[in-house]
Amino acid sequence: MFDTVYFDGAYKSKSEVNISPDDRGFLFGDGAYEVVVAYKGRYFRKREHLERLNHSLRGLRITGIDAFSLEPILDDLMVKNMVGSADVTAYIQITRGVTERKHAFPSSDVAPTVFVRLMPVVRDPSFKTGVSVITVPDTRWSRCDIKSINLLPNCLANQLAREAGCIEAIFVRDGVVLEGTLSSFFAVFNGVARTAPKSNYILAGVTRQAALDICQREGIPCSEEPIYMTDLANAEEMFITGTTREIAPIIQIDGKPVGSGQPGPFVRRLAELYRMQAEAATTNAHSA
Ligand code: PDD
Repeated sequence: MFDTVYFDGAYKSKSEVNISPDDRGFLFGDGAYEVVVAYKGRYFRKREHLERLNHSLRGLRITGIDAFSLEPILDDLMVKNMVGSADVTAYIQITRGVTERKHAFPSSDVAPTVFVRLMPVVRDPSFKTGVSVITVPDTRWSRCDIKSINLLPNCLANQLAREAGCIEAIFVRDGVVLEGTLSSFFAVFNGVARTAPKSNYILAGVTRQAALDICQREGIPCSEEPIYMTDLANAEEMFITGTTREIAPIIQIDGKPVGSGQPGPFVRRLAELYRMQAEAATTNAHSA
């Protein structure tokens, strides 16, 4: 299943993909990516993901491609892989292309390398029942708003989390709690959910924005304000948000229980409202 992928202008079997050793993605991690989920075969918040991909491409100064030109490929892959009404994620990766190994950009006639594939959605049961996380120092660069394929600090931190029996590591920079290695972070104080404001130090999470929009619409108190490490002990609830994890309660952080150590009422309500929105998107073309 999901054997048909798009690579360098053609649909092919995954095993037929040949990555050039001169590809700048391979040599330098010089590229951007996106992960879009599709519920029951329909992409969810696709426009937001493609807009963010364009933001990443602009940030990296990769030219010659508009993310929205990939829409027919996303649709074709659904058909070619006979997805039907399954839930899947689409992985899109664009690198600066193939040239000899020189740090400065190649000439503008070098086309970006485009790779798109579908993958099954894997839902860990703990995304519902509650996850454990650790905090780690943020060793990433200062353009975390760009979804760069250069993910070494994220991989190293995520590995530390796994070794601690946790599912996610939350980056902390200068005492400010920012986001996870592949998710956004929220904490609830006195009934108000707080998440780091958008800046170059976090990815503008599509699910983060969806959560904020739901709060706004439903009159649920929330704010985009810095969360300090020293605040965490006072949080009633915490949760992470992300395309594949949706809205997942955090029940333990750095080995200590969060609140009662069980998913609290705030996150349970928000996760339910998010699920309802995702369900609605499968029947309403306008929300896709
Ligand atoms: N990661 N922060 C970081 C650093 C991320 O990598 C991601 C997503 C998020 C959540 O963003 P969104 O809600 O748009 O998925 C926040 C993807 C899913 C990944 O790397 O696989």
